[in-house]
Amino acid sequence: MLITDIKGLVGLHSKDKLVLRGSELGHLAVLENAWLLIEDGLIKDFGKMDSIPYHISNLPSQVSAKGRYIFPSWCDSHTHIVFAASREEEFAMKIQGKSYEEIAAAGGGILNSANKLQKASEDELFESASVRLKQMILLGTGAVEIKSGYGLTTESEIKMLRVIRRLKDQFPIPIKATFLAAHAYPAEFKNNHQGYIDLIINEMLPQIAEEKLADYIDVFCEKGFFSVEETDQVLKAGAKYGLKPKVHANQLSVSGAIAVSVQNRAISVDHLEESDEETIETLRNADAIVTLLPSCSFYLGIPFADAKSFIKADLPVALATDYNPGSTPSGNMNFVVSLACIKMKMLPEQAINAATLNGAAAMEISEDYGSIAVGKRANLFITKPMSSIAYLPYSFGETQIETVILNGEIYNG
Ligand code: NIG
Ligand code: FE
Repeated sequence: MLITDIKGLVGLHSKDKLVLRGSELGHLAVLENAWLLIEDGLIKDFGKMDSIPYHISNLPSQVSAKGRYIFPSWCDSHTHIVFAASREEEFAMKIQGKSYEEIAAAGGGILNSANKLQKASEDELFESASVRLKQMILLGTGAVEIKSGYGLTTESEIKMLRVIRRLKDQFPIPIKATFLAAHAYPAEFKNNHQGYIDLIINEMLPQIAEEKLADYIDVFCEKGFFSVEETDQVLKAGAKYGLKPKVHANQLSVSGAIAVSVQNRAISVDHLEESDEETIETLRNADAIVTLLPSCSFYLGIPFADAKSFIKADLPVALATDYNPGSTPSGNMNFVVSLACIKMKMLPEQAINAATLNGAAAMEISEDYGSIAVGKRANLFITKPMSSIAYLPYSFGETQIETVILNGEIYNG
């Protein structure tokens, strides 16, 4: 496929640039008035229209992108899209002023989702997650991470991970699976935390490893959920099976979550709505991607993460949706990029880099995804006619995406 007359080819980085730290996030190279050639699902070549080689300009299969931009697909590195039911009954409680913790204590929250998921069949979960994933892809997402964590029993955690594996098999995008049994304590383990941790370590992990159902391990390290010591135990047990950590850290309070994640060589630390100087100092000496989830702040009414300070400290900031029924019922990366600009004061270039190349880095796939470079996978989207790149986040709540291309082929859902 040859795409011609592209107003701007966005997100050119050399193929060996695998992550962008600090000030690098501000550099989003754009080639204006460009062509792009795709072959065998990969980016084969690109250049300026005024110097397009004759043999390329004569290729039969051509698409004109006049007035339009081409972006690398969004890489959404933090989602919980396998769930049995929405939770809009909590929506009114939230509007009336109940906090996330209060709703959880009143029988809502993660345990509510777990009750419903335990009763759902694998097929039902696969069907509903497929609908969500299709919708996300049509909104420009071309790589995704999906967590378990609404099962909370061996059987149901494995059921969730099998659903994720089916999604991997059926969808034309890379999908990473994260094991998050340490998401909340089931009611029967309320006063026996070690009992549940032992179940995770001695029963769930060996089976998951045996079936190769997970790529990463995650823990919700937070007051009322998993303590720093409990987090450490679970992460160390996961490491024995080769599962690297991606941790829910500092969502509701500053805890030792960042330090324990860094000590366990986390690939990413996610949330960080709460942070302080020490958080930043701890991260300075680590490689962890700092994954921010502004739609969660928007929906829960909690603070937005301090993206500017993280960038100033030369950290690699990524953006993701956190799509889940409790804190973020939305999988729209375009809105995430808008919120990052509007509420976290990231510049459009920084937000776009964070939602593409750094999102790919948070899934360890940035060698093949997340930017436009010769030899990378052709997972891209073509925008509607737009006046500039900044128009995409500026026009919040709308989609500027007209055509989705995955592996070099147009995706219609
Ligand atoms: O990332 N914080 C923990 N997990 C999810 C919310 C889970 C839920 O409320 O169902 C999150 O926000
Ligand atoms: Fe989450």
